[in-house]
Amino acid sequence: MKLTFLIWPLSWYVLSGTTYGFLFEPTCIVPPGCTCTLPTINCAEKGLPRIPQFNMTSYNMMLYLKLQHNRIIVVPPESLKGIHTGKLYLDMSFNNIRDIHPIAFAGLEDNITILNLEHNLLTTIPVAVANLSSLTMLNIHDNAIATFDAGVMRSLGTHIEVLYFGSHQMRQWPSQLQYLANLTALHVYDLGLTHLPQHAFKGFQHTLINLEIDSTNLTSVPQAVCDLLSLRIFYFNNNTNLHQRHMLPSCSRDLDHVTDVSFDNNDLTEFPRVLDLFPNVNSLSVSGNPNLTTMDIVTDNTGRLRILKLFDNGFAHVPLELGNFTLLVDIDLHGNNLTELSDGDFDQLVHINRLDLSDNPISKVEPNAFRDMISLYYIGLSKTALPNLPVALLDLHSLHSVDFLNNAVVCNCDTLSWLQNMTNINSLRVTGVCHEPFGLTVSQFMQYNLDNC
Ligand SMILES: *[C@@H]1O[C@H](CO)[C@@H](O)[C@H](O)[C@H]1NC(C)=O
Ligand SMILES: *[C@@H]1O[C@H](CO)[C@@H](O)[C@H](O)[C@H]1NC(C)=O
Ligand SMILES: *[C@@H]1O[C@H](CO)[C@@H](O)[C@H](O)[C@H]1NC(C)=O
Ligand SMILES: *[C@@H]1O[C@H](CO)[C@@H](O)[C@H](O)[C@H]1NC(C)=O
Ligand SMILES: *[C@@H]1O[C@H](CO)[C@@H](O)[C@H](O)[C@H]1NC(C)=O
Ligand SMILES: *[C@@H]1O[C@H](CO)[C@@H](O)[C@H](O)[C@H]1NC(C)=O
Ligand SMILES: *[C@@H]1O[C@H](CO)[C@@H](O)[C@H](O)[C@H]1NC(C)=O
Ligand SMILES: *[C@@H]1O[C@H](CO)[C@@H](O)[C@H](O)[C@H]1NC(C)=O
Ligand SMILES: *[C@@H]1O[C@H](CO)[C@@H](O)[C@H](O)[C@H]1NC(C)=O
Ligand SMILES: *[C@@H]1O[C@H](CO)[C@@H](O)[C@H](O)[C@H]1NC(C)=O
Repeated sequence: MKLTFLIWPLSWYVLSGTTYGFLFEPTCIVPPGCTCTLPTINCAEKGLPRIPQFNMTSYNMMLYLKLQHNRIIVVPPESLKGIHTGKLYLDMSFNNIRDIHPIAFAGLEDNITILNLEHNLLTTIPVAVANLSSLTMLNIHDNAIATFDAGVMRSLGTHIEVLYFGSHQMRQWPSQLQYLANLTALHVYDLGLTHLPQHAFKGFQHTLINLEIDSTNLTSVPQAVCDLLSLRIFYFNNNTNLHQRHMLPSCSRDLDHVTDVSFDNNDLTEFPRVLDLFPNVNSLSVSGNPNLTTMDIVTDNTGRLRILKLFDNGFAHVPLELGNFTLLVDIDLHGNNLTELSDGDFDQLVHINRLDLSDNPISKVEPNAFRDMISLYYIGLSKTALPNLPVALLDLHSLHSVDFLNNAVVCNCDTLSWLQNMTNINSLRVTGVCHEPFGLTVSQFMQYNLDNC
């Protein structure tokens, strides 16, 4: 151990940002093993057993120090001595850190703004964190922390804005969160709890904008969400213990600031009545629920939805209800079980410009399936069972791009001459390979052979 310590100062080396910037670029001296491309010092994935000793000669407005994926176990006093920077983003995630000394960050208390301690072996929130007066983002997800120290949380409360937390060891909702009066984003993972207390979000009800609840044993969306009057983004993913009939709370008032919602990978079999709870949703994802086969959503509230992601579900038909959402611009249905697209399936969807239908066993597209889609710019039809480009594409007057990879296209005049009738044939790009004749791409066929058909 002593030896490495002695060798280090001899082998400090200098890296400069670019080859010609020599005179103008500030130099960045970092310990061996680390590399520097300002503002980033990269010491990640080097098998380091401890934080290397820094001895930087220059001062930078901001630095991003990457120490993740090493073998660091303890962080002793003054570990970052030798770093000079106005703001420091410090990433020590994915190590084996058990202990961080109370003055581990001495000298940089006012400079560390982002601290990532995800996936370590901490059992309490480190006291050293309480001193970090400029810290706005803290990630302590996936540490064996059962509860939070009230004193530390109180110190963080005046400035922390973004918190990631949660672990299987946490058996109770940490009421100390109430001190985080400046919180705008909360990311909660891996909780074994089935319910949250009624006022779980007390303390930051008015400030929270972004809430993510992922991989928990919750049986429903917590009633406490009703308190979040500024909430705009709500992600509720990988929660597979839901009682679906009673999955959404009924709030006494609409959560009408919410625009972005995701309910992915929750093992849903029923479509959540999201629009009743969040009437102004602009972007909705209900994906990764293989047993979800219908959208069966009844609502008067169809006005705002613009982006709808329904991928990796079990839909066997294009949901009828889509036609109610006339402002949609983007629909993603990839990875479902669609076998046929029928005339009228996309009626009234005149604003759609992106439609992804790839990775479905589609074998038939009726000729008027796309008749209303005058704005469609991109269509994804890769990995289907289609024998050829569907003639229904003729209705797509704005079409610019077709993904038709991984289909068995036979490229000849019989199968493709109709493409000459596309209004926008000259700007149309089709990606795909002809099954026959071998070695030709669909776009080569269109460019060199179509004129002679
Ligand atoms: C840091 O570098 C300076 C010169 O650049 C040197 O004088 C000093 O001894 C070094 N300190 C450590 C702790 O290596
Ligand atoms: C921390 O930032 C302040 C300015 O915000 C600066 O004066 C101080 O030198 C910085 N600390 C270090 C160790 O670079
Ligand atoms: C850090 O915390 C220690 C002990 O709680 C305290 O003595 C010290 O003044 C704090 N330093 C800063 C910069 O807040
Ligand atoms: C933190 O919240 C307090 C009280 O809500 C407020 O006065 C203060 O300005 C906030 N600080 C920041 C950095 O937003
Ligand atoms: C959460 O649910 C999983 C299975 O659904 C179960 O194995 C685990 O024990 C539960 N966790 C707790 C803390 O109850
Ligand atoms: C949670 O869901 C996301 C997609 O929403 C997925 O990328 C991620 O791998 C999932 N995490 C776990 C732990 O399953
Ligand atoms: C989904 O369906 C599969 C088989 O079709 C079944 O084994 C599984 O239990 C179902 N999952 C849920 C959550 O209903
Ligand atoms: C929504 O679509 C369904 C199925 O097409 C239809 O029966 C229902 O009347 C529509 N509802 C509204 C509010 O447009
Ligand atoms: C897909 O649909 C077919 C009927 O069209 C059905 O036999 C099959 O079980 C479905 N597959 C899945 C994974 O749902
Ligand atoms: C293409 O246009 C020609 C006339 O310009 C017409 O005879 C033919 O039926 C059209 N083909 C298709 C598939 O619409």
